[in-house]
Amino acid sequence: MTTVERGRTAMMRTGLSKPLSIALADDLLTPDTSVFDYGCGRGGDVLRLKTLGYDASGWDPNHAADLPRKEADVVNLGYVVNVIEDPHERVSVLHSAWSLARRALIVAARPDWEARYVQGRSHGDGIITTKGTFQKFFKQDELRAWIDNYLTVRSIAAAPGVFYVFREDSTSHTFLANRVRNRRAYRRVEIDESLLETQRSALQPLVDFVAERGRVPDVTEIPNSDELKNTFPTVKHAIAVIRQTIPNDTWARAQEAARRDLTVYLALTAFGGRTKFTNLPEDIQFDVKALYDSYRAACESADQLLFSLADQAALNKACSSAAFGKLTPEALYVHVSAINRLDPVLRVYEGCGRALTGTVDGATLVKLNRVEPKVSYLNYPEFDRDPHPALNTSLRADLRRLHVKYTDFGSSQNPPILHRKETFVADDYPRRDTFARLTSQEERASLLDDARAIGTQERWKARLDQAGLRLAGHRLVRARPAE
Ligand SMILES: C[S@@+](CC[C@H](N)C(=O)[O-])C[C@H]1O[C@@H](n2cnc3c(N)ncnc32)[C@H](O)[C@@H]1O
Repeated sequence: MTTVERGRTAMMRTGLSKPLSIALADDLLTPDTSVFDYGCGRGGDVLRLKTLGYDASGWDPNHAADLPRKEADVVNLGYVVNVIEDPHERVSVLHSAWSLARRALIVAARPDWEARYVQGRSHGDGIITTKGTFQKFFKQDELRAWIDNYLTVRSIAAAPGVFYVFREDSTSHTFLANRVRNRRAYRRVEIDESLLETQRSALQPLVDFVAERGRVPDVTEIPNSDELKNTFPTVKHAIAVIRQTIPNDTWARAQEAARRDLTVYLALTAFGGRTKFTNLPEDIQFDVKALYDSYRAACESADQLLFSLADQAALNKACSSAAFGKLTPEALYVHVSAINRLDPVLRVYEGCGRALTGTVDGATLVKLNRVEPKVSYLNYPEFDRDPHPALNTSLRADLRRLHVKYTDFGSSQNPPILHRKETFVADDYPRRDTFARLTSQEERASLLDDARAIGTQERWKARLDQAGLRLAGHRLVRARPAE
């Protein structure tokens, strides 16, 4: 009989675990959120959350069995189900954790691609490791199906190996809408210079709201600000000033951008059947009313995006007419910072990939395949520093098979590398000019004439050697002659 050492799976960490860091980044945890860590191991996460000011507690059958199991707004079931060898017990732990979650449950398990780094012998649907612990590695789609099936929910992929389950539909809608809206700090609305400095400062939060949502806030959405109250007689007065001082064309641009966000969000949330208008979060109802004539009109626009998604030729066309990104016969490659500036069709395409993978930590480029419905997240850790950075990992979402594949190039002696880095980014990307200057130099030296001959680190080095050139940062210089 095999004895499984479950307690030994708990490790000492130096920072918050991945699922909780992601939840923090995703605003799932805000200062008033209570958190319960189900299967908390040695309690490192609980301690760190408490240090950050959260009402956090935890329980673990092997390390903190005397503590109570408590309800909380957010319950974390982090890397617990993968250490349980009995599939029935796994399900019952999932149910227990869910029963304690008032607002959301986070479920994290080790993804299948980590199996290659762990030695052990086969046991049930997993392995017994050399430490005597059990590990079941989940495929991304398998983990989702398992959660959804046993909890009768539609979970949301937060990241590879991490899923959120929301108690209320409207909370998951708010989360998804934020995910569509984020990454667009570039949008700015200027306040009229003629206003007094005190007025401008008091109005700034409202102006930021207009920049993000393309509409003025409802009175219920205005932050409780003493500065605003002391500067304007009423909130309505402040809103009226905003309306008058933002120029028409700025309004129109903010509205158009917000309308695109809303349409992309409505397209991405249509798969499980469209939500009734009154079930949408109130702020999104305000968006619909301000940006479209009706909910029906908004949904029709979203449906048009979805039709293009089912049509590979339309996707291909959208890729080939993108204003930026590197276009090859196979795909359009875009830096992650610029995804939300793509055409809405391509944003929905990328969003479908992300619905499978969740947000991929460390992704540098997104590859939108023009030939087959596949979206890949490529990690180039040295993208900014290295003039020709090497590919480290790739995570590919296959939208037809609903499958996610991970490839690790980290130990490759001859990884694929990038050229013409400026093509991947938008105009205002820091150091874009430096990237472009290097490309011009390399073009003048005829180094880029045959793209296939320079695609890997070794080939590129050979090409430079042959031309008697080398790189000094982002500059091409003569190689020193051999002594
Ligand atoms: C890999 S550790 C993860 C600990 C912690 N959540 C983290 O992410 O650092 C797995 C933990 O699951 C706990 N565990 C094992 N069986 C459990 C069960 N039936 N219910 C709750 N926790 C369990 C183990 O004691 C162990 O501390």
